[in-house]
Amino acid sequence: MEENEQPTGGPYFVGKKDELIEAKRSFRTLEDRDILIIHHQGVFYALDSYCYHAGGLLQNGDIEELNGRLCIICPKHKYKITLAEGESLYKANDPQEPQPVPRWYSKGMKQRTHTVTEINGEVFVKLSKDQGWLESDFFQGEKGKLERAKV
Ligand code: FES
Repeated sequence: MEENEQPTGGPYFVGKKDELIEAKRSFRTLEDRDILIIHHQGVFYALDSYCYHAGGLLQNGDIEELNGRLCIICPKHKYKITLAEGESLYKANDPQEPQPVPRWYSKGMKQRTHTVTEINGEVFVKLSKDQGWLESDFFQGEKGKLERAKV
């Protein structure tokens, strides 16, 4: 982005489809935002690179289906984040139940996800500005760099 240019959110060209598929996980910086682009089971996803909890590197996380939803598992403290929505899931017992059984619960949207489109073999990411402040915003930009270094 040029100096004095207003950030638009894109869409930005992020690579050729074939190359991104082969890479499986690709790191891009768009408008000073570090983004992870993932190709998994035939679908592209894009989300903030640093885990909302404490800035862990999601690019190194395993992907698992949990409660019917694809999640990336942050390698740092194992938080589970849905790839499509950035929702944080956790499993717990409800002590109010007579015979508690572990179930999945949501902490809500925590990780910012972005829109990926593909046109004629080229892949584009449009940055999401929706939903107001999300916790993963904290670890982006120059200030985020300092915060990530602390944890
Ligand atoms: Fe990701 Fe703690 S930094 S779970």
